[in-house]
Amino acid sequence: MFYEPLKQSHGLDHDPFKSCVVPRPIGWISTISGNGIHNLAPYSQFQNLTFDPPYVMFSANQNTKGKRKDTVINIETTGEFVHNMATYDLREAVNKSAQELSPEEDEFEIAGVTKAPSNLVKPARVAESPVHFECRYYQTLRLPGDGPMGSVDIIIGRVVGIHINEDFITPDGKLDIPRIKPLARMGYYDYTAVESVFEMEIPGMNKDLIDGLEGRTGSK
Ligand SMILES: Cc1cc2nc3c(=O)[nH]c(=O)nc-3n(C[C@H](O)[C@H](O)[C@H](O)COP(=O)(O)O)c2cc1C
Repeated sequence: MFYEPLKQSHGLDHDPFKSCVVPRPIGWISTISGNGIHNLAPYSQFQNLTFDPPYVMFSANQNTKGKRKDTVINIETTGEFVHNMATYDLREAVNKSAQELSPEEDEFEIAGVTKAPSNLVKPARVAESPVHFECRYYQTLRLPGDGPMGSVDIIIGRVVGIHINEDFITPDGKLDIPRIKPLARMGYYDYTAVESVFEMEIPGMNKDLIDGLEGRTGSK
């Protein structure tokens, strides 16, 4: 099948677009408002952008009322956010934190997770999450769209501090991904968790390419 979005119908009972880009890691973003209220929300339109220095991005659609999301407003107000790795074990808390709530509600409490202080930024970390990125806001890219929710704010942040729970590091110094079971989004109401790993090396790899592929930074 082929269809042009906006011009033609895909003809299926469910829109396939979001399920064509999978599995999507979930940026579980914690922020703090100008009034000091803690906010937490999942964003599966999330990715790392580069590694030296590391940057991440996530894309926030407007809410159902056509307003920019609390996470976006908080980041633009305070200049800081934290990404907490979402895992299979934390799936219910991730889901609860996705509710459209008033900016006055503490979403750590709604999700039933514990606040851990960050080292360099004010937003709290989700203590139960095994990996956290402390981030400083870099820029917003705004894409216009249709309907109340179509327009998005793409938030880019520089990762200035990384926490890893050492219980999830293997004896050879890697993150133990099958034990962490990162949660990922698959379109519709479907999710997956990473539970298996296999390795491949590019034929003819040289040192510079290896540095890039392994994401070595100047600090290493
Ligand atoms: C797993 C998951 C992934 C989500 N990904 C996104 C996303 O990428 N962009 C977005 O705008 N909303 C996404 N949402 C919805 C937001 O989490 C939701 O609108 C939330 O209320 C936003 O909170 P905030 O206003 O406190 O920022 C997602 C929800 C779930 C459950």
